[in-house]
Amino acid sequence: MELSVLLSLAILTGLLLLLVKGRPKAHGHLPPGPYPLPFLGNLLQMDRGGLLKSFLKLQEKYGDVFTVYLGPRPVVMLCGTEAIREALVDQAEYFSGRGKIAIVEPIFEGHGVVFANGDRWKALRRFSLATMRDFGMGKRSVEERIQEEAQCLVEELRKSQGALLDPTFSFQAITANIICSIVFGKRFDYKDPEFLRMLDLFYQSFSLISSLSSQVFELFSSFLKYFPGIHRQIYKNLQEINAFIGRSVEKHRETLDPSSPRDLIDVYLLRMEKEKSNPNSEFNHKNLILNTLSLFFAGTETTSTTLRYGFLLMLKYPHVTEKVYKEIVQVIGTHRPPALDDRAKMPYTDAVIHEIQRFADLIPIGLPHIVTKDTHFRGYVIPKNTEVFPILSSALHDPRHFEKPDAFNPDHFLDANGALKKNEAFIPFSLGKRICLGEGIARTELFLFFTTILQNFSLASSMAPEDIDLTPQQSGVGKVAPAYQIRFVPR
Ligand code: HEM
Repeated sequence: MELSVLLSLAILTGLLLLLVKGRPKAHGHLPPGPYPLPFLGNLLQMDRGGLLKSFLKLQEKYGDVFTVYLGPRPVVMLCGTEAIREALVDQAEYFSGRGKIAIVEPIFEGHGVVFANGDRWKALRRFSLATMRDFGMGKRSVEERIQEEAQCLVEELRKSQGALLDPTFSFQAITANIICSIVFGKRFDYKDPEFLRMLDLFYQSFSLISSLSSQVFELFSSFLKYFPGIHRQIYKNLQEINAFIGRSVEKHRETLDPSSPRDLIDVYLLRMEKEKSNPNSEFNHKNLILNTLSLFFAGTETTSTTLRYGFLLMLKYPHVTEKVYKEIVQVIGTHRPPALDDRAKMPYTDAVIHEIQRFADLIPIGLPHIVTKDTHFRGYVIPKNTEVFPILSSALHDPRHFEKPDAFNPDHFLDANGALKKNEAFIPFSLGKRICLGEGIARTELFLFFTTILQNFSLASSMAPEDIDLTPQQSGVGKVAPAYQIRFVPR
């Protein structure tokens, strides 16, 4: 159904409700914000550009902490690193609950590490962290797996002989393969049809989840879910991925050797077996499928989109690319593959990758949190289960912490001596107890993939740098980098 039709229906229903009800009931003592209408909430204050734009405008009026009614429900917005830190770090336990994302809720239903709460979340987070660490410290470390994958990519890109190509698929394939090797114990060939299908489903779903329609759905899901729309497509896509994971789990069951688990699924199956007499165990089939889906989704689109933004920025700012290449030649040379230890000796490259992440601003409005108890915060009282959005974009673009927040400028992360300068507003992985579980893997991937590609290829585009547009295709819960083509020309 057309977005405009959906909106009109929503407004009409809201106005009818407005006649029969009154203002939404006041909850606790929430931070200030625009006056909400029944059912519609603050729809009338929302910007056509989407949720992020709307929230940033409201920040100008109400300050760093305010309340917005997304449809009928109040959500507390936290802007800037200070407010986000005071909540997610200083009151970590209270702010550690996870809110729902309406458009994917029917798939996850509170399962898997990203969307679980309470004891379920604790069990799955502990399990996922420990298993990823173990498979990082086994005979092949995560670093080695990433180095190998980077070399596979170099081989693949050489075959293109410098022809123009869309890099989306390549970046997805390498990041997905790292998760595959930890979770399934194997990587996929870049031409494997099932793998290609999965990557397409991930990309399509991430784009749909980040679209404006998805943001409208977030406001009125209880009503819009009865109509056709992108929520049905997302549901279908993710179910297809789940069926793929399910088939892989079955194969694992058939070949499981309890004395030598090969990957995360094996370890999970052994844990399931061990806890089978415990009716309250969280190690059940549903959590296995949805935890695996969570790791894939969280681990593939995020890192690959960052790489996609990164190489577009390298095309737009060739002088930066040149400086990175010089540092690669100086520290690593042209023959030996890059290793993680090199990063500490490459402050310019490290600053560029930080700046790519800041600029890419991948999860601009954060993932939704909820408070787990009635919570006192900056003189307000936020009732238990109220949603809280840490607006990460407001920290990553905070003029109080970055000299030119809207420009791509690696100097944001360099001091006067050219050493890496940390910045407390650099929080692309968020903060606190829900901080990204894959931060270490993501940072290792970004460094090794980025440097290995630039060590082996120079970059070219069919467009002049000044004509390259950096505006994202979509910006909602996630940001989707613009589509573009690039030549990887062997050095
Ligand atoms: C550049 C890449 C990445 C970025 C920018 C990123 C960012 C984030 C952010 C902002 C959150 C939400 C934190 C919060 O709730 O406040 C998150 C959560 C999460 N990320 Fe990442 N992430 C990246 C890569 C990865 C990778 C590679 C993995 C998996 C190996 C991963 C797994 C997760 C998981 C499982 C969660 C949920 C944690 C929880 O709810 O306890 N992420 N990530």
